[in-house]
Amino acid sequence: MKGVVLAGGTGSRLSPLTKITNKHLLPVYDRPMIYYPIQTLVDAGIRDIMIVTGGRNAGDFLRLLGNGKEFGLAHLNYSYQEGEGGIAEALALAEHFADGDTICVILGDNIIEGSIRGAVEAFERQGRGARILLKEVPDAERFGVAEIEGDRIIGIEEKPARPKSRYAVTGIYMYDSTVFDKIRTLVPSERGELEITDVNNAYIRENAMTFSFLEGWWTDAGTFDSLLRAGNLVAQTRRAQAARAQAVEVAGR
Ligand code: G1P
Repeated sequence: MKGVVLAGGTGSRLSPLTKITNKHLLPVYDRPMIYYPIQTLVDAGIRDIMIVTGGRNAGDFLRLLGNGKEFGLAHLNYSYQEGEGGIAEALALAEHFADGDTICVILGDNIIEGSIRGAVEAFERQGRGARILLKEVPDAERFGVAEIEGDRIIGIEEKPARPKSRYAVTGIYMYDSTVFDKIRTLVPSERGELEITDVNNAYIRENAMTFSFLEGWWTDAGTFDSLLRAGNLVAQTRRAQAARAQAVEVAGR
């Protein structure tokens, strides 16, 4: 399975922070935001990764990430999104890279505490269709929301005023190679973008969508509040890890 990190967009909700740089290069505690989704893919055993970005600061990604050495990678792939066509349009740029393989897509502002390795392995066994990661949240209206019947998702609504469940669709998606044909059938939404929710609903209509629940905390970082929350969650997790490591060291003396 190959990995795709989507890191385009104007980040308008974070202006003026995003006036002179790309949202995904902003700091989240002690690292640039884009480090976290890359690490999530690497930790799941995915080593062939493409970054899709755009805008005026695209060159900064290359300077920051290079060939991915910091993540133990030998090579990173890059693609450039012209304009602001949305998540699904950005994903379309990875078709050549995917080259018929299955892909794990992660939005560049999605930061998680745990691992997606189990879900990635489950999708490898599944072999075709799609698999998404859900998380129960108190503010589902901010996200794509999954309607679940039994053990099936029967539909996803993008930012509904009255959510049908508390299950947010996180920005982590696994797809087979038919995803690119599905993107070609999409029409822009009211916000003028090709929506990833429409891609997911196409899989649901084909009865080819499964899901896993994400363990640990999850946050996006596209607004002032969620960016602050992301930094605080990472800081707390790091402190807890350091305390555990110290306790183990003391016990070992
Ligand atoms: C996007 C998706 C949404 C998903 C969210 C996760 O929203 O459209 O379905 O729940 O990412 O971060 P956006 O951040 O583009 O508003």
